[in-house]
Amino acid sequence: MIFQTTKENISSLKERLQISYLRSANLPTNTVDGRDIISGLTQRPKSLPPQYFYDDRGSQLFEQICELPEYYPTRTEAWILRQYAGEIARMTGACELLELGSGSSTKTRLLLDAYQTLGNRLTYVPIDVSGGILTESAQQLLRDYPALHIQGLVGTYEQAFAQLKPTSLPSRMICFLGSTMGNLTPLECDRFLSQILAALDVGEYFLLGVDLQKPKQLLEAAYNDAQGVTAQFNLNMLEHLNQRFAGNFNTQLFEHWAFYNDQLNQIEMHLRCLQAHGIYLEALNLKVEFETGETIRTEISRKFDLEVMQEELQATGFKPLAVWTDPQQWFGLILAQKS
Ligand code: AVI
Repeated sequence: MIFQTTKENISSLKERLQISYLRSANLPTNTVDGRDIISGLTQRPKSLPPQYFYDDRGSQLFEQICELPEYYPTRTEAWILRQYAGEIARMTGACELLELGSGSSTKTRLLLDAYQTLGNRLTYVPIDVSGGILTESAQQLLRDYPALHIQGLVGTYEQAFAQLKPTSLPSRMICFLGSTMGNLTPLECDRFLSQILAALDVGEYFLLGVDLQKPKQLLEAAYNDAQGVTAQFNLNMLEHLNQRFAGNFNTQLFEHWAFYNDQLNQIEMHLRCLQAHGIYLEALNLKVEFETGETIRTEISRKFDLEVMQEELQATGFKPLAVWTDPQQWFGLILAQKS
């Protein structure tokens, strides 16, 4: 349907859109004050939390990564959703869609289409740390779905969980797509699954997209693309820290390094120092020395086994209802229910 932007429907856009910037006042997290940066950069080996990839430029670069020929996860998950979104909507019935790390909300459209086809009321709660991309994509969604209501939350997942409002729809489905779960350590993953469980009422749903184990060459190519977009994405974290904490990282003195660790079934992304030097993050009063060849680990991206993931969900208190995958079994989608 083509929805023309007139004065009348601009006001209707405003009525259907609510965006809240979540404050940390009642939730002092490491992310807000940079304590996580201090502890990551003063440890050996050094590391930085992957959430610092996502300033507005980082979110744009990630959108570009999703379009790269080597980066199969996005299009494979979209393929699965295209095939099975109707089945998902029929299984859950009318429900509020809450998406963690919503970004451009591109794949969500496949779910919205399915719920719209069933004639269900559409409420979408995107949650993202990047206010820019959340607002832009919410406005576009409202133009494309005239019956949709959006309550966007800009903040971390923890902040969002702490401030969730009850849904007016019969149920709720938390969507965690794109295998973002893979960016959490096993311990963080357990904690996170428990938080998701706590945010749902009994009988409500969790839709999880996970990248699956596969040959190393395919995985390493996906994180070392020929155009160098992943390298820019990785280096942009340093620019983000400079801007956010008044720092003087020189990105010319680091290079992108990504490889598959087949013992731990995870891609590891690092920034490798090319020349010994020191940096200063003024807002954190933090000086850090780097040796030539020393690395900062910026991300892990774990690759999963569908059976094991279902067992983990079950152990947390979810009942897996259905699992879908693509013909090459590169990516998996699990629908689970709080039991
Ligand atoms: C967001 N996350 C699931 C991506 C991944 O594949 O782990 C982030 C990413 N890092 C490099 N390329 C994409």
